[in-house]
Amino acid sequence: MAKLFIANWKMQLSPRQAERLALLFKKKLAGSRDKLVVCPDFLSLPKLAPILKASNISLGAQDCAPLLRGAQTGEISALDLKALGVSYVIIGHSERRSLCQEDSQLIKAKLKASFSAGLKPVLCIGENEAQKKQGKTKEFLRRQIKEALSGLKQLPIIAYEPLWAIGSGRPASGKYLEEVIAFIYSELSKISSKKPLLLYGGSVDSNFQQPVGIDGFLVGGASLKIEEFKKICGV
Ligand code: PGA
Repeated sequence: MAKLFIANWKMQLSPRQAERLALLFKKKLAGSRDKLVVCPDFLSLPKLAPILKASNISLGAQDCAPLLRGAQTGEISALDLKALGVSYVIIGHSERRSLCQEDSQLIKAKLKASFSAGLKPVLCIGENEAQKKQGKTKEFLRRQIKEALSGLKQLPIIAYEPLWAIGSGRPASGKYLEEVIAFIYSELSKISSKKPLLLYGGSVDSNFQQPVGIDGFLVGGASLKIEEFKKICGV
């Protein structure tokens, strides 16, 4: 089955640089049979939309507002992302949870807004180092899943991104992932009979042994280097 590879460029590139990298992605990844998504910063989205339009690469945003319209100074509506040609949106990335104090209630509202606008949301979940050390990973993930997803009519794509793995050069081991992924699936099955796509993120690079049973990967740092990203996608 085709896998889903999402490049999260975070705030690492200027719109000019993002444009250049998008052109390289389009050229060098044209042969991929997998699903590819690029998530640049907001200001780069209008520049990348025409570049990626007639390509095998979809456009994603890194966040959206919890409301579709309203007095929300500084926010960006999922409706306008959709109209621009965006298909995917990352919701609840750990950097937003910590930098912007995003809580589960806000994250749920963002998931609802993205579904209503016709976007495919990608919900990030994951424990931090202390929770892992204290053996509280499952308890924490159970809470994150329940709080963000209970009562939703549709489930988003889920990206399991342990905080200790993000940007650390230490991805989760195959054995650890196998156990956590099975746990996440069992928790999700309590909420919906439909199995959503499940991705892994956190220091995925070309040396990472991609485990089976995972539908794809969310890639940060290594997606800024085209040759590295090409190897990750097996092109
Ligand atoms: P990383 O980031 O690949 O640089 O660890 C992943 C992410 O934060 O989504």
